[in-house]
Amino acid sequence: MANIFPAWTTWLPLKVVICLVCLGSMTAVGVTYYFTPKYTRVGYQPLQPVSFDHSLHVQQLGLDCRYCHQSVEVSSHSSVPSTQTCMTCHQQVKAQSPKLEIVRKSWETGESIPWVKIHKAPDYVYFNHAIHVNSGVSCYSCHGQINQMAVVWHDQPQSMGWCLECHRHPEANVRPKDQVYNMDWKAESPKAQREMGQQFVKEWNVNPPENCAGCHR
Ligand code: HEC
Ligand code: HEC
Ligand code: HEC
Ligand code: HEC
Ligand code: HEC
Repeated sequence: MANIFPAWTTWLPLKVVICLVCLGSMTAVGVTYYFTPKYTRVGYQPLQPVSFDHSLHVQQLGLDCRYCHQSVEVSSHSSVPSTQTCMTCHQQVKAQSPKLEIVRKSWETGESIPWVKIHKAPDYVYFNHAIHVNSGVSCYSCHGQINQMAVVWHDQPQSMGWCLECHRHPEANVRPKDQVYNMDWKAESPKAQREMGQQFVKEWNVNPPENCAGCHR
């Protein structure tokens, strides 16, 4: 009996299978990437225009976060300091240092230093710093051990699941309000944290939103 199919068709099923496998794995990678943005941002540590060192300024010199990030406790937004803040010290301290060249230039021209933004919530998400820090949530919970970072990196996922995780269990994360700016504070034990946390949640009437409109207004 004559073969009615041309010779190349014997390979067709194999090609189809290979194609499907390729497509399948590409889709899997794509979907994983799309739904887990958290893994893509943790560790993000861009090179900054000036080698500003938090471990030196916070840990060694003992500066409070609010000295440079003033708006954090009063505004929805935290911000990076203006050149003015640096120059209160660096007009005298290390005034000739080449490492501060860009800072002096910015001071002269009035053009701000182009710091690279590390943390960024998408526009469709409502986030408010003041609400959090004034409810006993520390910078540490969301930004990690900043006081030990010579160069800041993205420490926590800051994804939707991550926000919700804390909103469902605020007692695991709230601390005495006078320790919010202390990156080294820890409860004595997980049990102590839970008990204290539960007490604060009740006393301060802490009630983080879990409904969509709470964060997508
Ligand atoms: C002397 C000033 C100064 C002090 C004090 C300071 N910071 Fe900063 N901070 C900066 C500057 C400048 C930047 C931008 C450059 C960089 O990322 O290192 C920054 C960046 C950051 C960022 C990253 C911002 C972004 O782009 O997402 C976080 C988070 C942060 N600081 C938290 C803290 C915390 C928490 C403390 C207190 C423990 C603190 N800072 C104390 C000056 C300061
Ligand atoms: C309260 C004073 C103070 C403020 C405010 C301050 N610094 Fe400093 N900074 C210091 C001191 C002190 C040193 C360490 C000097 C030394 O090593 O002897 C230093 C060191 C530095 C160095 C390293 C310089 C070198 O040659 O090693 C850089 C860069 C720097 N600071 C950037 C900044 C920037 C940018 C800001 C503003 C966001 C800032 N500093 C704000 C006090 C300050
Ligand atoms: C509940 C979590 C949370 C806490 C607590 C928190 N942050 Fe943030 N921080 C964020 C998120 C989310 C962003 C990105 C926000 C955005 O893009 O509007 C951010 C952004 C920042 C930025 C960058 C702002 C900019 O305009 O470049 C700085 C600086 C900062 N935080 C400092 C602090 C400091 C200092 C504290 C403690 C006093 C603190 N944060 C506490 C979650 C938090
Ligand atoms: C470590 C714990 C923690 C994390 C992480 C956290 N939150 Fe919250 N959030 C709280 C607590 C606690 C409150 C409640 C404050 C209160 O009721 O006093 C709150 C309240 C809020 C509110 C209500 C504010 C208002 O105006 O009523 C919004 C919106 C919010 N969080 C958004 C976010 C978003 C978006 C993220 C993630 C980027 C996030 N939160 C991450 C603990 C957290
Ligand atoms: C506690 C705050 C919070 C609550 C409550 C919340 N979201 Fe989100 N949502 C976020 C944040 C933060 C992001 C951005 C995540 C990122 O950038 O990785 C986000 C992202 C999204 C996205 C985009 C997803 C993507 O992968 O790009 C959708 C869709 C969404 N949320 C829907 C919802 C719906 C529906 C609800 C209610 C069931 C909800 N959200 C409740 C904080 C919240």
